[in-house]
Amino acid sequence: MSRLKMTVNGVAIDIDVPESRYLSEVLREDLRLTGTKIGCAEAECGICTVLVDGIAVVSCVFPAFKAQGARVETIEGLSNNGRLHALQQAFLDHGAVQCGICTPGLIMTAKGLLDTKNAAGEAVTENDIRTALKDSYCRCTGYQSVINAVLQASGEEVAPYIPETGTPGTAVGKPRPNPNACPMPGYFQSTPRLRSASTACTQC
Ligand code: FES
Ligand code: FES
Repeated sequence: MSRLKMTVNGVAIDIDVPESRYLSEVLREDLRLTGTKIGCAEAECGICTVLVDGIAVVSCVFPAFKAQGARVETIEGLSNNGRLHALQQAFLDHGAVQCGICTPGLIMTAKGLLDTKNAAGEAVTENDIRTALKDSYCRCTGYQSVINAVLQASGEEVAPYIPETGTPGTAVGKPRPNPNACPMPGYFQSTPRLRSASTACTQC
């Protein structure tokens, strides 16, 4: 056990933890800040991303003691007096969330980008966002919605992304008639003819 001191979302933390702890373990298990999610646990998916002194790090492999004396930011620190952060609101506006497992990591990665760009007085481009999020994986929503949400949070006006839905008026998923089906009403209309089946109609 060793003494770990840092600030998390502006709150001073001073706890004894094993030296082998990763930052995600300290956040989730010792501090009960479970907004930081775990996906791969091996630095591949970006889901566990938090900010350490403004830099996005994958907390599942980030030794907790590397955050000694640092300023850590997690998804729990973003809203202010019940008001969502611009990134959180933009993710809602653009439908950039489905299961939400990847969302804290995407938002914290995006926050790191926006904070860095704001501090430098630089505009954020779509290419900047794509580059920043290139190691963040989402399995259930569309990346364009995420990119549009980050653009909106950076101050751009962005129309919601509406995926192609095919030709209007065309039924989707309607089964085709089975060409081998029995023609007699009430008999195997959707299944192949069964000449030897006792329940088959007399025409089969
Ligand atoms: S859970 Fe940390 S990178 Fe996947
Ligand atoms: S919203 Fe489900 S993994 Fe991204």
